[in-house]
Amino acid sequence: MERTLIIVKPDAFEKGAVGKIIDRFIQEGFRIRAMKLFRFTQDQAKGFYIVHKDRPFYNELVEFMTSGPVVACVLEGENAISRVREIIGPTDSEEARRSAPNSIRALYGTDKGKNAIHASDSPESAQYEISFIFSNLEIV
Ligand code: RTP
Ligand code: MG
Repeated sequence: MERTLIIVKPDAFEKGAVGKIIDRFIQEGFRIRAMKLFRFTQDQAKGFYIVHKDRPFYNELVEFMTSGPVVACVLEGENAISRVREIIGPTDSEEARRSAPNSIRALYGTDKGKNAIHASDSPESAQYEISFIFSNLEIV
């Protein structure tokens, strides 16, 4: 069993898609081990995405992630990290609509930046991201 972190981003929350997105993971067989609704501060968003601090889109990403509420979940399942990445689809929502039309980004994302959902991409990032958002007591 493996755990991963997803965040329903502000664009998808604003669209009212949070329930449909979380239900998709339940239907795909994952267990929810933690869940939280919150809004990132600038410093929290910078810390969460610190791996991207030198990328040209870093400031835009921080602005977007602080623009409204998000919902984070810890999901558990076999090969959860790679399976969840498959279900969310490619980073660019337009590309997702071409190559993975049933993916979450194809269904609910707008473009490369506003792409509806975040998911951990490795065991190392899952560990960092889960402990960034949740304390041990918040994970069942
Ligand atoms: P995420 O971390 O959010 O799950 O997305 P990802 O792995 O598919 O993509 P990543 O390369 O880690 O980029 C993180 C987020 O930054 C925004 N982004 N904007 N304007 C751009 O060129 C650009 N590139 C990336 C997206 O919100 C992306 O999900
Ligand atoms: Mg990423």
